[in-house]
Amino acid sequence: TQSPSRSGVFSASTDKRLEAFGESISFDHRLFRHDIRGSIAHARMLAKQQLLTEEEFQTIEQSLREIETEIEQGKMPFRNELEDIHMHIESRLIELIGDTGRKLHTARSRNDQVNTDFRMWVREALDTIDALLQELQRAFLSRCDGDFDIILPAYTHLQRAQPVLAPHYWLCYIEKYQRDRERLADCRKRVNVCGLGAAACAGTTLPIDRDATARELDFERVAANSIDVSSDRDFVLEAGFVLAMIAEHLSGWAEEWILWSTVEFNFIQLPHQFCTGSSIMPQKVNPDTLELTRGKSARVLGNLQTLMILVKGLPLAYNRDLQEDKPPLFDSFETVRACLELAIPIVEQSVLQRKSIASRLDQGYLDATTLMEHLMIRGIPQRTAHHLVGTLVGMAQESGVRLADLTDAQLKTAHPELDESVREVLGVEKAVKAYQSYGSSSPDQVRSQIHSWREQLQ
Ligand code: ARG
Repeated sequence: TQSPSRSGVFSASTDKRLEAFGESISFDHRLFRHDIRGSIAHARMLAKQQLLTEEEFQTIEQSLREIETEIEQGKMPFRNELEDIHMHIESRLIELIGDTGRKLHTARSRNDQVNTDFRMWVREALDTIDALLQELQRAFLSRCDGDFDIILPAYTHLQRAQPVLAPHYWLCYIEKYQRDRERLADCRKRVNVCGLGAAACAGTTLPIDRDATARELDFERVAANSIDVSSDRDFVLEAGFVLAMIAEHLSGWAEEWILWSTVEFNFIQLPHQFCTGSSIMPQKVNPDTLELTRGKSARVLGNLQTLMILVKGLPLAYNRDLQEDKPPLFDSFETVRACLELAIPIVEQSVLQRKSIASRLDQGYLDATTLMEHLMIRGIPQRTAHHLVGTLVGMAQESGVRLADLTDAQLKTAHPELDESVREVLGVEKAVKAYQSYGSSSPDQVRSQIHSWREQLQ
């Protein structure tokens, strides 16, 4: 079978090496449903515009649906000489219905066809990822009540900073994934534009109705410039970026929980069904799922680079380089999807190690900043209070005690304002209760954020 795209102008058949080099069927077969849906919409429009008879349209539609079933059942052999999914479907159509099949490509080029198919695929992929992100947000939210009374150290520079409620951490991840979801929705607006009918690059002399196909294919609007359609892959790069951001977020979370699951931290126990053992060390329970989540993010970031570099400096309009846009985006999508599908149960089922966390909350002077602020409320300038509390921490460190263990006399000698009232904010529980500001880890703030996320995510 020679490709229907090889016209009478050719004096030699394609070299086998080019066929193997240029094929995309091995990956773009994923577009078959979108291609068939696009072709049916296109044919219906051609019939409405009297470019096909109603009968021809019916034959085309019915045969395309048969071909869809054939592909679904794995009955269509893929051949390099037919290059891509578009040519496979069209040549099968011609095989089935002859000349009527030869009319399908009226007022269409593979350039607008592939742009349209890929947009439909990307649109679906974004929706799949959005649904998984929502589930992941729900998984974090589902932990909030049960972990409400657990205090964790918040870190900066990976040094103990200030005490926070455990759900404050979970809400932090919900916020990050919410921004990812907003990016998906925004990206989707630009994906959801129909290029069909732009033909090769300049439009067509035939009286087509682009609004009709766009409507049938659920696009929000019709792309206004045919050269742009033929060359535009912004939507692929944007989708690649949004997936890369999600991978970044997943990777950071994975790293955190890998650390938290070490003996050194001992903050969290990961569900054993998502851990692996060691072939030599019997005691090992390794966090491989999280490590692979962190590791696979490299692929997604690399794919974004590939896409960015691919389109750099391409002259208008379509160039065959653009065929290379699919493997990286398919891979990013599948990688992020797989990571999310595992992240959800891990977030739901991991258990915070209450005792171990609580037993070390007195270490690291997590209440120092709260003490400083207590002094500031009493009129001591911030820089003075900062220095003073630093000195107290130094004293406490020297004798290996908590700030709360310093005697009244020790406190008083440091500053006259340091009377017994400072004990109201010493210790992590009191420090957490003292937070006031919007977005802080005060129990009231956290409770109200949980409440509003519950409304939003239900
Ligand atoms: N398989 C090609 C791609 O993915 C389809 C477009 C081919 N167009 C062309 N003029 N050769 O980009």
